[in-house]
Amino acid sequence: MVIQNGLLPSLWPAVRQAIETRRTIGKVHPDQPMREAIETILESATWAPNHRLTEPWRFVVLAGNARAELGAFMGAQNAAKYAEDDPNREIERARGAKKALRAPVVIAIGVEPGQASNVDELEEIAAVACAAQNMLLTAHALGLGAKWSSGAIIHDPAVKQWLGLSEHGLLLGFIYIGYPAMTSERSVRTPVATLTEWRGWDDANSVPEPASNQS
Ligand SMILES: Cc1cc2nc3c(=O)[nH]c(=O)nc-3n(C[C@H](O)[C@H](O)[C@H](O)COP(=O)(O)O)c2cc1C
Repeated sequence: MVIQNGLLPSLWPAVRQAIETRRTIGKVHPDQPMREAIETILESATWAPNHRLTEPWRFVVLAGNARAELGAFMGAQNAAKYAEDDPNREIERARGAKKALRAPVVIAIGVEPGQASNVDELEEIAAVACAAQNMLLTAHALGLGAKWSSGAIIHDPAVKQWLGLSEHGLLLGFIYIGYPAMTSERSVRTPVATLTEWRGWDDANSVPEPASNQS
């Protein structure tokens, strides 16, 4: 690869386009995408940065009837907010159950934090969030729509157990994937300059080189 002015001009336009044109796609068609596409999305997740190579990500791909099992948990969580004799209880249960069927493929995103004493749980969560972003970008690049959804369900111990997570495991949410059934507007972001402080930038040429580079 040719580096010009410290940049890889061949790579940046594609990366930028993928990052900037990816949008949350909440409406997808019921047709199941090809398994190879889902495998590619999962593979991309595993290239995320992760401290000490703990690879803390865990995935459960839910398709077909397996989604209804997730829906039963979602429905139960909704229903629990209402008294037994409240007619809204069953309406809300059905509404919750339907949520899991919004897309033909639902990927549960789990974190299994490394248990060594030098592993920081926050880093493990951050690594899995990076993995999830890889997945969203890859789905987008493959022409699929994806939505990362969390909500109270990620804290439900029964759901975490059903997904096979350990007592230390965390659930970061679910990525719903399918062929897009909506177009999305270009989104708006706050200009990064208003969220960034630059310190010492102009000193760069006047600061002596450190004796040695240490990571
Ligand atoms: C950790 C996480 C959890 C999210 N959970 C939800 C959710 O529960 N429901 C939802 O509608 N969107 C959820 N989203 C998606 C955001 O709403 C979406 O990214 C945001 O609106 C920005 O839109 P964009 O993805 O098109 O840039 C979640 C995103 C992240 C990163």
